[in-house]
Amino acid sequence: MSASSATRLALVTGGLGGLGTEICRQLAQAGRRVIAADLPASEARLAAFGEATAAFGDAIRYEALDVSDHEACVAMIGHHEREHSGVDILVNAAGITRDASLRKMTPAQWHDLMRVNLDGVFNTSHAVVEGMTARGFGRIVNISSVNGQTGQFGQVNYSAAKAGVHGFSMALARETARKGVTVNTVSPGYCDTPMVAAVPAEIRAQIIAGIPVGRLGQPADIARAVTFLTADDAGYLTGVNLPVNGGYFMSF
Ligand code: CAA
Repeated sequence: MSASSATRLALVTGGLGGLGTEICRQLAQAGRRVIAADLPASEARLAAFGEATAAFGDAIRYEALDVSDHEACVAMIGHHEREHSGVDILVNAAGITRDASLRKMTPAQWHDLMRVNLDGVFNTSHAVVEGMTARGFGRIVNISSVNGQTGQFGQVNYSAAKAGVHGFSMALARETARKGVTVNTVSPGYCDTPMVAAVPAEIRAQIIAGIPVGRLGQPADIARAVTFLTADDAGYLTGVNLPVNGGYFMSF
């Protein structure tokens, strides 16, 4: 039996992160039960997350998960399939950067990033797709990036993975369209998160100067798009990339 819309279960990877926490909050606000899945975290980080999500009580819970570990994804998601009603909404927000120009990039910087940003999307999607299609309802949203659309200096790894995420989404959208499962991408621009704060200040200032809206995105701007795409009545939106970048990159 599929859960009623009021109790649908959402799994947000990178749930403790800059975008992930706000995505959890907005999904809970929309009446979802939410699991914030992320790497094992320090007590301080978990306490900060607990504070940010306290208003939602038990509706948001943290579970440790390394998305680069296929077996771990299958075990965690399988548990929710067997013991509970299954995962209805999957948001792949786990992501890392390993910036370096190609001539300086090490194989480890390439592979570490691919394992999280691209393999992670495969691992979690692989684990949820059977249950979602069997129940006839599912919403998968993969967080890509404007830099997957445009390429960015110092990010051949990140840009390749993020472009790959949308290719993955379009292909899976075709496979699941007849089964009530939509698969979409949200492509944030530069947002007010620790990831962007780590960009050298001078480069960051140049980037912000090029954003037509005149500011970094807020996590709430991205979470709003995710909430929209995961709504129960968003079933005709699939294979879409929704850019949320303040006009930084406009395309048709
Ligand atoms: N465009 C053109 N040329 C550039 C450049 C750029 N953006 N950045 C550096 N260069 C030039 C330098 O002027 C220098 O030129 P010369 O050799 O002629 O002096 C040369 O390239 C330096 O090359 P290096 O390989 O030595 O580069 P570096 O080690 O100094 O810095 C870098 C490379 C660390 C990647 C740095 O450019 C950087 O941090 N860039 C920002 C990357 C970025 O935007 N990351 C986004 C992270 S946030 C995110 O990803 C979230 C999201 O989804 C949006």
